[in-house]
Order: sequence, then C-alpha cells, then structure tokens
Amino acid sequence: MCGIFGYIGERKNAGSIVIRGLKNLEYRGYDSWGIAMRLLDGSMRMAKDIGKIGAVDDKDFAQPCSLAIAHSRWATHGGVTRDNAHPHFSCDGRIAVVHNGIIENFEELRSELESKGHTFASQTDTEIIPHLVEELLKQKGMTLAEAVRSACKRFMGRFAILVLDRQLMSLVAARTGSPLIVGVGDGECFIASDIPAFLEYTRTVEYLDDGEMVTVEGGKIRFQNIQTGEEREKRLVTIDWTVADTGKGEYEHYMLKEIMDQKETIQRAVHQDDEHILQVAKSIETCLGCILSACGTAGKVCMAADYFFSVVAKRHVNFVTASEFPIYHHFLKPESLIIVVSQSGETADVLEAMKVAKQSGSKVLAIVNTEGSSIARAADYTLLINAGPERAVASTKAATGQMAVLLLIAHAVAGKLNAGRTLLLETGGLINDMLNPRYIEHIEGIAKKICKHDNMYIIGKGWNYPMALESAIKIQEVSYIHAEGFAAGELKHGPIALIEEGTPCVALLGNDEFTSDILSNIMELKARGALIIAVSPVRHTAFDLWIKVPDAASAQPIVNIIPIQILAYLLAVLRGKDPDMPRNLAKSVTVK
Ligand code: F6R
Repeated sequence: MCGIFGYIGERKNAGSIVIRGLKNLEYRGYDSWGIAMRLLDGSMRMAKDIGKIGAVDDKDFAQPCSLAIAHSRWATHGGVTRDNAHPHFSCDGRIAVVHNGIIENFEELRSELESKGHTFASQTDTEIIPHLVEELLKQKGMTLAEAVRSACKRFMGRFAILVLDRQLMSLVAARTGSPLIVGVGDGECFIASDIPAFLEYTRTVEYLDDGEMVTVEGGKIRFQNIQTGEEREKRLVTIDWTVADTGKGEYEHYMLKEIMDQKETIQRAVHQDDEHILQVAKSIETCLGCILSACGTAGKVCMAADYFFSVVAKRHVNFVTASEFPIYHHFLKPESLIIVVSQSGETADVLEAMKVAKQSGSKVLAIVNTEGSSIARAADYTLLINAGPERAVASTKAATGQMAVLLLIAHAVAGKLNAGRTLLLETGGLINDMLNPRYIEHIEGIAKKICKHDNMYIIGKGWNYPMALESAIKIQEVSYIHAEGFAAGELKHGPIALIEEGTPCVALLGNDEFTSDILSNIMELKARGALIIAVSPVRHTAFDLWIKVPDAASAQPIVNIIPIQILAYLLAVLRGKDPDMPRNLAKSVTVK
C-alpha cells in the first residue's frame, strides 16, 4: 500500500526519474500522488494532486535536480484530497516526507507538536513526521540522520519513510514493518518500496531490514539500527528480474499479460531444487501440526493445497486465514510447521502470523514470488515460485504458480516427486495450448451474454470449491459484479434462494469422482432458472454454456481457474472498468 520512491545521485533529472519509477509502483496505491524535488539552486519544488500517477507527465519535472522523493497513495488516515496527498512538510518547508504505513500514536504526537506551535495542513498521520524532525533539528549539533532516528524511535506502528532536507544533498530512509529496498547504481542511489521502481537503472540492491535506517550522503550509503544507532554491513544482491518482465508486452493490460504468462509460469514454478523440496516434504511429515496461512487469493490457494495434501499425500494440514492466525497461538509448538504463501512477500497480516508463530518457536516456510521480500527474509525456509513480477492488482499467474509449488510438495510428501513434476510440466503444456485467441474469443462471447448481470454464483466441489471462492474474488474485484462462491453441496442449505430466471451460475468440474454430485447440484440450479456456465473437461447436457478445459488430474484447480481469470478480465473490460487498478484496492497490503 502506497508506493514511495526517492533518488539521489549525479543525474540531473531526479524529478522525472522518480515520477517514471513511481508509475511502476502504481499497483501499490493510486488515489493521489506527490513529489518533492531539491533543485540544483537549493530551492524546493513540490507538486501533488488527487488522481493516478499514471496520468502525470514526467517531463513536467525535468528541472535540474539530483535529489527527489515521490509518493503514490492508498488512503488510510484522511480522505483522498490534495492536502492529504504526500509529501508532507515541516512548518518552515525545509523537511519533506513521504510515508507508507500507519503511525498508530500520531494523535498523541500531533497534540504534543501543536502545543509547541506546529500547525498542520492535513488529516494524515504522516504529517507528524516532518514536524517532529523539524522540532528535533532545533537541538544543538543534531544531524538530519540523528533527528530521523530519534523521531522513528517514538513511532508506534508500521512505517517506511523517505526524508529530504532542502538544505542538504542527502536522503534518509527508515523502515519498520513496511518494505524499503535500496537500489545501488554508479554514484547514485534509489530507495523504493519495490524493485520495479528502479529496475531501469540497476539490478543491484541492498535490503533494508526491519528496524533499520539508511543515510545516503556524499556518495556513501550508511545503514544503521534505529534503536541503537549501530552501523550495519550489507551484502549487495543482484536480482534476476528484467525491465521486459515488468512491462505489458503486446497486451493492453497487465492482467491479460499475466494471464498469458501462465503459458510458461507453471513450468517455472516447478523448477525447484529436488533436495530442497524433499527437505520441505520431510519437515511436513515429521512436524507436529502443519498450518497453511495466507490472505485473499493466496488463502484460496492454501485451501486448495489442503485438498492436495489430503488426496495426494494423505496428510492432514489446516488452513487459517492470516488475519485470524493469532487466535490459534495456543496450538503452536516448537515442533509445528507454518507454511505461509504470499505473492508480494509484504502482506502485513501474514507477517503478523509469522511473528506469532516465531514467538511459539514454530518453524516457518514461506512460498513467495518476491525474492528478498520481508516474508522471504523473516522465514526459516523459502521457496520462490519464479512467476516474475506481477503488477495487476488481481493475482493470476502468482496464484497458479503457488498451487503448482504446493502440489509438487504434496507429491514429494507422497514419495512421488518425479510424478508430481511430470504432471505439472504436462499441465503447463496443456495451458500453453489452451491460451489461444479462439479460446479467449469463446470466453468473450460468454462474457458478453452475462456482463449486464448484477449477481453471479460459482460452485465447485473438492479442490474446485476453493477455486469457486477464488473465482468470486477475481470477478468481484475487477468487474464489480457481485459474485459469490459456494461448495456445491451447500447450495440447498440457503444460497439457492438467490437464484432467479437467468442468474449466471458457473460450475467448476473435473473428470473425477465428484462429477455426479455436482451434476445434481447443477440440475437443482437449472430447475430454478439459472444459466449454467460450466468449466469442465467433459461436456454434459445440463450445461447451457461450456468452457472446455483439459483433464489435468490433481492439477485440475490450476487449469480451471484460468478461464475464470479470463472471464473476470473480459467482464471488467466490457463494463468499462480498469482491470489493472480496481477501485479501493492495492496490490501489496502492508497495513493490518
Ligand atoms: C486478489 C489478490 C489478493 C492477494 C492478497 C494477498 O486477486 O491479489 O487477494 O492475494 O492481498 O497478497 P499476497 O499474495 O501478496 O500476500
């Protein structure tokens, strides 16, 4: 949530650099934007507005400047107004701050600062930061870095901040909870919430750990612990994402591009070190209780994994939504294994779940897409899904990559690692064949028939049940149609009352032992007038509309969700919505 990006270095177009880079972080928040530039003549230029950073022209910020910070907002405290957009400034206009996260004790700090004569221009929690730094700088001999460090020690909550002082050619950043990554170039430094902001300039990074700050001045980068001030050594890491990976390619939207990327990402997901997978499988077999935890789509993936472990490996694992996980702390032991799943690796509720697990001494395995992310670094073991950057807010290729890794692990637990890999590689090939223009046109025809409806329902049984829930998330979030997913057998216990003549109902089927049950449920829906759209390897007369999928055995949920991703995308486009940036959402949910 919220994208922040700062530049300091020898280039003279820092303003354009941060605006352009921030556009690559727009998936983090897009209700307003802002920039502060320290111009080469020592003056400060500020601009902010409501609306998307994507609509801002970076050429408007081409004045000679070598130090700038910028922000793209997802509102938490204070409505979406120009005044609440970042950066925020000290009373004297010398200090500018951009912030991602929430300062929980801001009211108390604001009253304290107001009593000292500070006046505030916004309703945000963020604005206390420049005022507090300004106040601390009044102390004799206080440097900017020391003032930021002292200020951070007073904050409660989660934050990642960038601080610019009009009087200095230095950039100070600090984090607790929210992500910050330092991109290191030749005589220049980039500090951002996420790597795509600076990928155009460097692939060399240093990760700022929780509770650390960094000061860039005179060509030197100095890392410190916020509490103790102790200096920290960092390792330079080269990341393997490329600029091409972060683009839209030939597609109009990132969401469609990322759906099409699934031609390759299943194969990439199973590209794992055998030893590592076998070790993970052993931990699952020997632990005393294995719990899967995640949020949103990643949570639905975990629910599918429950079925993978149960059916393929005959092993019971539980899923607990990450935001509910702390309630289960009584059941955690040092011998427990917690598997967390996250695309971004930054989801606050997942990090909180990991903290609770660690407090009980339990071990944590993280399955993530973003190398070096907070979740990856806080885990005891990490597996990467290798999907490449996912920029559309709606998760598609990451979800199927996560399922592929979990299905591979389930096979490893069953002593069938090679069979699992073969199945998944074959499934990748089937998906490649499936994702052709005719297939998409067929789904478009169906989307056109149902795009004016306000409600739709999705049913599934077995591992297609979590996919019914995931289908509902996909359709809701990008098309704003009210969609709900159910276990097919639950229909008659209430939801069937919602069915009217023509209500679109999607049924997810495999070629498996559940087919006859779900066909009965389809008949029950049909008898009440529902329009049945079936995603199934086999055709049945009960279907009004059929989306054919390959028969993929235990990989069926991976295959079945793909046409629904396409349907959700097309429904959004037909309804005139932006599928990449749905209202009220942000890709990386770094607040609780
Ligand atoms: C929906 C979606 C979200 C995420 C959720 C967790 O399409 O993308 O529900 O799955 O916010 O995010 P990660 O996987 O980054 O932890």
